[in-house]
Amino acid sequence: KNRYEIAVVQGDGIGPEVCGAGLAVMRAALGGDGILNFSEYRAGANCYRDTGTAFPAATYDACKAADAIFHGAAGIPGVTYPDGTEAGLDFGLQLRFRLDLFANIRPVKLHPGVSSPLSDAARTGIDYVILRENTEGFYAARGGGNLVRDDIASDTGIITRAGTERVVRKAFELSRLRNGALRDGRRRVTVCDKANVLRSLAFFRKVAQEVANDYPDIELDFALVDAMTVHLVRKPDFYDVIVTENMFGDIISDLGAATVGGMGMSPTAEIGDRNGFFQAAHGSAPDIAGQGIANPYGTILSAAMMLDWLGDRHGDARLTEGAERVRAAVAGCLTDGNLPGDLGGNARSDRITEDLCDRLAVMA
Ligand code: IPM
Ligand code: MN
Repeated sequence: KNRYEIAVVQGDGIGPEVCGAGLAVMRAALGGDGILNFSEYRAGANCYRDTGTAFPAATYDACKAADAIFHGAAGIPGVTYPDGTEAGLDFGLQLRFRLDLFANIRPVKLHPGVSSPLSDAARTGIDYVILRENTEGFYAARGGGNLVRDDIASDTGIITRAGTERVVRKAFELSRLRNGALRDGRRRVTVCDKANVLRSLAFFRKVAQEVANDYPDIELDFALVDAMTVHLVRKPDFYDVIVTENMFGDIISDLGAATVGGMGMSPTAEIGDRNGFFQAAHGSAPDIAGQGIANPYGTILSAAMMLDWLGDRHGDARLTEGAERVRAAVAGCLTDGNLPGDLGGNARSDRITEDLCDRLAVMA
C-alpha cells in the first residue's frame, strides 16, 4: 500500500488541540501528507448536542473502512442521556464493541526529563504495559443495565473463554516483542484479577493459566487487583506486561499514568484483528479547553503507536521509522525540559508541537 486512509475525530474539550498536535507531528515525521490521508468526521458530546447523536452512522462507516482511526478526546460532563450516563463517550465505547477492538494497550513509561511521584523511580525506571481487555466485563452492559424498581440497579459483567484467550495470548506476544525489557532481562506476564471473590474472574485466571502453557519462555505471575494498586506504587519495575479485564484495566492504567507524569502521558492503542483506534487515555479536560495549555504528549505518543501498528501490519518501514523518529523527538523535547503545566513546566501546547516538528524536520 502506498497511501493510508486515517479517519480523524477531534472530539470535545481539549480534543481538537491535542488531535491537531498529533496530526502536525505525524506530518512532520513523514514529510507531509503523501503517506497518510487524514479525513475528519464528527462524534462526541458536542456532536450529540448539535445533532442528537454522539456517533453518526457516517462516522462509524468511515472509521470501519479506514486503515486506522485517530482521536483527540470525547465527552463533556453534564451532556448526558436520560439514564444519566455521558453521551459523548459512546463514540469510543461503541467503536470498541462494534469493531471488536479487544486489545487496549497502555504503555506506562517514565520518560527522561519527567519526574515521578515515586521516590525510587528515577533509579529503577518504570516501563511496563497494561493490556486491558476492551470488549467484555461490566463495560459490556453499557446501555443494557437493569434499573429495577426505584431503589436498585444492576449491570452484568461478562467474561468469555474466547475473549480471555485472545487477550491473554496477546499479552504473551507483547512480552515476546518487548524482548526481556525487565532489568534482569526477564519476561513476565502478570494476570490481574479478583479470582479470590468472583467466579467470572476465577475463570479469567483459569483460562489465562491454560494459555500460559503455550509460552514456557515467559514467567507467569498473578496479582489480585487491590494488591496490584499497591505493587504498582511500590515495585513498578517488577512488571513487564499486565493483562486484566476491562474495568480493572481502566482503573489501574490511570494509577500507572499517575506514576509517570499523569494522564497527559498515557498513550493508548485499541486494536482488533482488522481495525486500530488511537487516542490518549485521558478525558477531554473541559476546564482547560481552548487555553492552549493541554499536554499533547499522550496523543502524540498514541500517534507513534498508530504508525507502528500500521507499519507492522503492512510491512511499511516508512511508517515504523516515522514512529521511531516521533519517539526520539519526544525524548529530546522532554529531556530539554519542554514541559507543559501538568508536568511542572509552562510550555504551551503549540510550542511543544513546534519544537517536535523542528526536530523531525532535521531527522527526516
Ligand atoms: C478510557 C476512558 C474511557 C473508559 C471512557 C472515556 C469511556 O476512561 O479509555 O480509559 O472508561 O474506558
Ligand atoms: Mn479510563
